[in-house]
Amino acid sequence: MMNRQNMQKQRHEAGTRMMSEHEDAKRWNRRYAEEGEAWLQDAPRPLLLHYAHLLPRQGLALDAAAGVGRQGLFLAERGLQVIALDISEVGLRLAQAAAKARGVRLETAVYDLSHLWLPPHTFDVILNFRFLERHTFAIYRQSLKPGGLLFFETFVRSPRQTDTPHYYLQPGELRAAFADWEIIHWAEAPETCHHGRFPKLTASLVARKP
Ligand SMILES: C[S@@+](CC[C@H](N)C(=O)[O-])C[C@H]1O[C@@H](n2cnc3c(N)ncnc32)[C@H](O)[C@@H]1O
Repeated sequence: MMNRQNMQKQRHEAGTRMMSEHEDAKRWNRRYAEEGEAWLQDAPRPLLLHYAHLLPRQGLALDAAAGVGRQGLFLAERGLQVIALDISEVGLRLAQAAAKARGVRLETAVYDLSHLWLPPHTFDVILNFRFLERHTFAIYRQSLKPGGLLFFETFVRSPRQTDTPHYYLQPGELRAAFADWEIIHWAEAPETCHHGRFPKLTASLVARKP
């Protein structure tokens, strides 16, 4: 007879297998298999480094669409407990290996953020770097604790981006979604994309929940 632990393990493996069929998972698994080590060599995003003095020394953080975890690892090294979610199992495995090598703990889960649910008033910090799923705005709003910090940075649609409009913010959209919070940093500026592929308009926000 199958015990509860085996059933959970089988369910987890079935979930991961299903997720690996997702088009985003296939694309990013391929990309991280080729370039993941290079992504890990990159420093955390400048926005996070610039405002690192605002981070708490302890507490719970979420790194949403964490990839290889370069931002999440930085928070873990600073003493935060970090949960890293991403659809790419390959990315998260690299993140776990990096955490082990650096002697820090990183909780990871393969997760499709288009179906995100988070418990309310739970996180001290939420990171969302270079990923957009609009319904997460409301979830992040609810799931940060009062006084918690949101770091959000992703691309803004320009006239050149006619494909996949759902991957891009409208100008001003991100700021408007958190307009009633304390806006610590807000900018929309062109920036060279990962590994210098092409410049893209990037929106960046640091906001504190009241
Ligand atoms: C541009 S990368 C950014 C990774 C990381 N935040 C960073 O700055 O290094 C976008 C990430 O979104 C993840 N992703 C794409 N679609 C996703 C989905 N539906 N659910 C969860 N993660 C997803 C990819 O696997 C990839 O790691």
